[in-house]
Amino acid sequence: ELRGVVALDGPSGTGKSSAARRLAASLGARYLDTGAMYRAVTLAVLRAGVDPADAERVTEVARTLRLVQGSDPQRSTTTLDGTDVGTDIRGPEVTLAVSPVSAVPQVRELLVAQQRAIIAAALEDAGGIVVEGRDIGTVVVPDAELKVYLTADAQARAQRRTRQDNASGRTSTVDATLADVQRRDAYDSSRAVSPLRPAEDAVELDTTSLDLAGVLAALVDLVEQRG
Ligand code: C5P
Repeated sequence: ELRGVVALDGPSGTGKSSAARRLAASLGARYLDTGAMYRAVTLAVLRAGVDPADAERVTEVARTLRLVQGSDPQRSTTTLDGTDVGTDIRGPEVTLAVSPVSAVPQVRELLVAQQRAIIAAALEDAGGIVVEGRDIGTVVVPDAELKVYLTADAQARAQRRTRQDNASGRTSTVDATLADVQRRDAYDSSRAVSPLRPAEDAVELDTTSLDLAGVLAALVDLVEQRG
C-alpha cells in the first residue's frame, strides 16, 4: 500500500504512463495523468479556433472550460464540459499544439492548482497517489515521498510511441514520431516556466532496455525502499 505521493516525471515515450497507471493500481492508490489535462486545454483551444501561440486567448479558453480529470487508475477519464475527450486528446493535432499551450504561465497556474486539489482529495480518500507529468517533482508536489525521473534514448522512445499509436489505430512511422518526440523535448525543456528537468532529489531511471514489466518492477522496488 502506498502512503503519500509518487511523482513520475520525464519526456514522452519512456513508458511513464503505462507504468504509472499499473503502479497505482497495484498499490491501491489513485493515479493522476497531468499531461491529459494540458492536452484537454489544447483540444478546447483548437476547437475554439484559437491560435495555440496566442497566450492571451489561450488563457481565456483555459479559464472558461470545465475540465474534469479522474484519478481512478483502472479508467482514467478526461471530460470537457461533461463530454469524454479521452480519445480526441491523443490525436496528432493536439500532440502538435500541446507544447505552446502548456508553456503559457497562466495555463500552468490554473492546472497546477487543480492538480493539487485532486492530489489532496486522493490522499484523503485513498492515502496515496501516483502523479505523472513533467514538473511534478519540481513544482506541483516538491515534497513528494518519492520522485522518479524516467529517461530513455530518443530512438527507443520513438519506437515505443509508434507502437502505441499503431496499436490504437493511428498509423505513424518511427521517423515521424522521432521528429515529434525531439521537437516536444526541445520545447518542453527550454520553456521559461517549469521546464522539463529532474528534481534535485529525484531518482533517475533509464528505461531504454526495459519493457513495461521491467519498468514496473523497478518502480515497485523504489517504493519499497522508501517505505
Ligand atoms: O505526457 P503527455 O505526452 O501526454 O504530455 C503532453 C504535453 O503536455 C507535454 O509534451 C508537455 O508539453 C505538457 N505537459 C506539461 N506538464 C506536465 C504534463 C504535460 O507541460 N506536468
